[in-house]
Amino acid sequence: MIRYLTAGESHGPELTGIVEGLPAGLDISAEAVSLHLARRQQGYGRGGRMAWEKDLVRFSSGLRFGKTMGSPVTMSLANRAWEKDAANWPVTMSLSAIEDEASVEKITLPRPGHADLVGVQKYAFDDIRPVIERSSARETSMRVACCGTARLFLKALGVEIGGHVLQIGAHGYESWEEIREIADEAAQSGGEALFQKADESEVRCLHPELTARMVDEIKHYRKAGSSLGGIYEIVVTGLPPGLGSYVQWDRKLDGQLAQAIMSTQAMKGVQIGMGFEAGKRDGRRVHDAITKDQNIPGGFGRKTNRAGGIEGGMTTGQPVLIQGVMKPIPTMLDPLGTVDIATKEPAPTRYERSDVCALPRAVVVAESVIAPVLANAILEKTGGDSMSEILPRFQNLF
Ligand SMILES: Cc1cc2nc3c(=O)[nH]c(=O)nc-3n(C[C@H](O)[C@H](O)[C@H](O)COP(=O)(O)O)c2cc1C
Repeated sequence: MIRYLTAGESHGPELTGIVEGLPAGLDISAEAVSLHLARRQQGYGRGGRMAWEKDLVRFSSGLRFGKTMGSPVTMSLANRAWEKDAANWPVTMSLSAIEDEASVEKITLPRPGHADLVGVQKYAFDDIRPVIERSSARETSMRVACCGTARLFLKALGVEIGGHVLQIGAHGYESWEEIREIADEAAQSGGEALFQKADESEVRCLHPELTARMVDEIKHYRKAGSSLGGIYEIVVTGLPPGLGSYVQWDRKLDGQLAQAIMSTQAMKGVQIGMGFEAGKRDGRRVHDAITKDQNIPGGFGRKTNRAGGIEGGMTTGQPVLIQGVMKPIPTMLDPLGTVDIATKEPAPTRYERSDVCALPRAVVVAESVIAPVLANAILEKTGGDSMSEILPRFQNLF
């Protein structure tokens, strides 16, 4: 089974990741993983740091001649901030004790909507800096890198993941049917074709007119000193039926996917397929009729895919459709009030350089975090320690 850990602070020297459980014989290159790191850095509404912080992953174990060996894969991403502001961060975030610790300014104004206040309460700090450093979404770049290896495993089996934006602020698709018309067409030749098409839009939206409205919405709230979140959808193609299980709560694939999405910074909800819309409709407009279809391996098809490719906690063989909602960025130019943790007096919140809307970039994180879950569901079925063992077993699942 694949598992991963990330480590590192936002303004420390580097982020580190370890992925364990990748089978041997999988092709992995820094370029292939960095593709999604670059995608995570693109999108309208991004903040200043993205302009100069180009992420390039560096592997230091687990690979030989560009292939996995079955041993843990270790990787790192340098934090350019550390080098760029060498007079500041190596002191502020010094890993070893320093003589003049008192000269490093303490951050005492917790930002509403961040981990700041609860973080200092939990870990008994008198300075918010350690909380900011680890709870920051900078960590998602290492998640994209770690999960990128699982994405390459899936791709080698023909399983592709792609995401696109559905809603930013007040602007979004009119209906589930409208989403399906546009997204299903974009995903016809796979999840990667979908993300490539979505990446043509500044906000990763497949609908050109909506793209323009979403960009205007971001401009408006930037001027207003506020921020925006939104809703996205992830589409996974190429999965066989029967991954996951209905027999035990923690083996249900929809539950596992939801956990992966919800563990990502700023995500506040997940739905599979039609999700919340299903609560507003009668059963005949929610469920998917089963059809006889000789073109589909196994001979069974579905007339629609409102279930989002999962029934009873198992894949149906149709594309898996997951929607997620991201809250607006908490850091705002015109911030909400706060209370100084040192003086206990109300004070204006301090502004740190920030995105206005990170949703287009968060789509890439969401695409990535579900990859190990899906890879594990496949490995549970196929077993196997090497790609040569797994590939034919995977083909037999169809
Ligand atoms: C890709 C991505 C980029 C983000 N960028 C910012 C940012 O620039 N400024 C900010 O205040 N929050 C940003 N966030 C959101 C915060 O990380 C998040 O609101 C915070 O960690 C608290 O989230 P939680 O309440 O879900 O734990 C970003 C989130 C993601 C996923």
